[in-house]
Amino acid sequence: MQSLALAKHALRAQPARLTLARTLATATEKPVLLKEFKIYRWNPDKPEEKPKLESYKIDLNQTGPMILDALIKIKNEVDPTLTFRRSCREGICGSCAMNIDGQNTLACLCRIDRNASKDTKIYPLPHMYIVKDLVPDMTQFYKQYKSIQPWLQNDNPPEKGEHLQSPEDRKKLDGLYECILCACCSTSCPSYWWNQDEYLGPATLMQAYRWIADSRDTHTEERKDRLQNEMSMYRCHTIFNCSRTCPKGLNPAAAIAKIKLELAAE
Ligand code: SF4
Ligand code: SF4
Ligand code: FES
Repeated sequence: MQSLALAKHALRAQPARLTLARTLATATEKPVLLKEFKIYRWNPDKPEEKPKLESYKIDLNQTGPMILDALIKIKNEVDPTLTFRRSCREGICGSCAMNIDGQNTLACLCRIDRNASKDTKIYPLPHMYIVKDLVPDMTQFYKQYKSIQPWLQNDNPPEKGEHLQSPEDRKKLDGLYECILCACCSTSCPSYWWNQDEYLGPATLMQAYRWIADSRDTHTEERKDRLQNEMSMYRCHTIFNCSRTCPKGLNPAAAIAKIKLELAAE
């Protein structure tokens, strides 16, 4: 009998508790902070329509802190036709590289500027063929990467089942192996813009050096020979755009300078 009375009391108290919870939630809700994003749009299925910037306004207080969060919110809630690449959301896969307010970077590592009076402009990586909206065609970039044969080549049978390397030699690969092949650097390089067919560009050249510098690799001379021509590497004029833009803080220009030094010493 007593437990029935308690249950009735709890039921009567529930609406009051719900109202209180709602009141508290409203009191802590942040005010709307609308920000405009102007995003490059181009649809290959409508070739008669020119590329354009499309405007979207979203509430920054209802969005995560990064540009990729804003893009996902727009795609999920405003315009499902907006097209972009992304996967890891933590700066590892390299797929969300794009040009944000004039800088090539990763959308998942780029914080939204919370100044709502200023719009944010988002374009695909510059000087690339575009598949759709923010998605560049990476075919040539990957072809160039493949051309440097980015795998360990050693003609001797491995000792103890694997090719050994001293800690000092392993250290020489730091700052090289971390590259995620996002192409932010190559697509910020003026030499790459104008000579993309033949010049390998900073991302691929840094990986070429990564294998030249690897003490376990015995194909160093062939690797260097492949770069010993007018176009593959010597189109780099040490402008350093590549190193300035790398979202992983790497220095491809320095790696290219090291290849040049090694070739000059031969
Ligand atoms: S340093 Fe070389 S690779 Fe880097 S942006 Fe300049 S020209 Fe391009
Ligand atoms: S060097 Fe940096 S910018 Fe260039 S591809 Fe690698 S991670 Fe991206
Ligand atoms: S989503 Fe993978 S690097 Fe941005």
